[in-house]
Amino acid sequence: MKNLRDGNYGEEGKLPITKVNILTKEKQEIPVEMTAAIIYEEGNETATAAIFNDLREKYAVQKKLEDAETQLFQSEKLASLGRLAAGVAHEINNPLTSILLYGNLMHEKLEENHPLEENLKYILEDAVRCQEIVKNLLAYSRQTRPTRDIFYLNDIVTESLRLIRDQKLFMNVKVIKALDDNRILVNADKNQLCQVLINLIINAFDAMESRGTLTLRTYREPGSGKVLLEVSDTGGGIPQENIPKIFDPFFTTKELGKGTGLGLSMAYGIMKENQGRISIKSTGPDGTTIRLELPEEKSSHEFHFDSIG
Ligand SMILES: Nc1ncnc2c1ncn2[C@@H]1O[C@H](COP(=O)(O)OP(=O)(O)O)[C@@H](O)[C@H]1O
Ligand SMILES: [Mg+2]
Repeated sequence: MKNLRDGNYGEEGKLPITKVNILTKEKQEIPVEMTAAIIYEEGNETATAAIFNDLREKYAVQKKLEDAETQLFQSEKLASLGRLAAGVAHEINNPLTSILLYGNLMHEKLEENHPLEENLKYILEDAVRCQEIVKNLLAYSRQTRPTRDIFYLNDIVTESLRLIRDQKLFMNVKVIKALDDNRILVNADKNQLCQVLINLIINAFDAMESRGTLTLRTYREPGSGKVLLEVSDTGGGIPQENIPKIFDPFFTTKELGKGTGLGLSMAYGIMKENQGRISIKSTGPDGTTIRLELPEEKSSHEFHFDSIG
């Protein structure tokens, strides 16, 4: 009434649209938009009229719109980061090819048991690994077709462990291999699956801060036609609120320069391409088990031992 009368807010006797919160008897605050006017009769105030407009619904719609916008922004951000990663991967591919080409030429020219041979082999092996990473980045953003091979599930474990040459990692970690001895076969891209497993093993080491027990287990799930590879660590687990995010590209809780947040999202893409699945079997303060699932290869007639290597 004071505002209406002093005319500071517009014409005297009229209140332009004003936003206020009104309090109900139940002490609930309701945001409203109000206009009001004094009604005069022969110069005397006789009444006031006000219109209140409940803003709750409008605010709810606005909030929904804002949420949708943030989500859209998130997915656009992820898409453009994916494109950026793919672009970088593409650019790195050419110089890598030349590193491999000249490295291999050099390797051929070295006489046997040359003291530099071992170092050169490491360079070449790591260049091949870079090439695989680049391929995975491209696969993540562009869905390339994986190559297929029939091989023993256990091979993934032995080869991945062999590929992790940084023995410092293993210093205070006990590695338990609980491998099924039933010669389980799978039909998949072996390099890609090794890449997945290496990522899981490194995550496990990170979670254990290089101290604890790493268990790698393979087995056949009875009756389902599925075979499983599980990676268990004795680290601190994944906090509940992070569980829905860990497969998102670029989600990482590691310090800058340590994690890229691409490991699990690539693993997710690779498992899908190979008709498999990746999931968290369990996680808690005693550790985490990540589970890889693949269909078992039953027809072994296509299977032949690789005599080259
Ligand atoms: N075994 C694990 N134990 C605890 N947290 C994990 C484990 N594996 C993954 N995470 C969580 O998931 C996040 C994403 O993993 P990843 O995609 O491999 O990216 P990065 O390892 O580069 O951070 C990690 O930063 C970590 O927070
Ligand atoms: Mg990782």
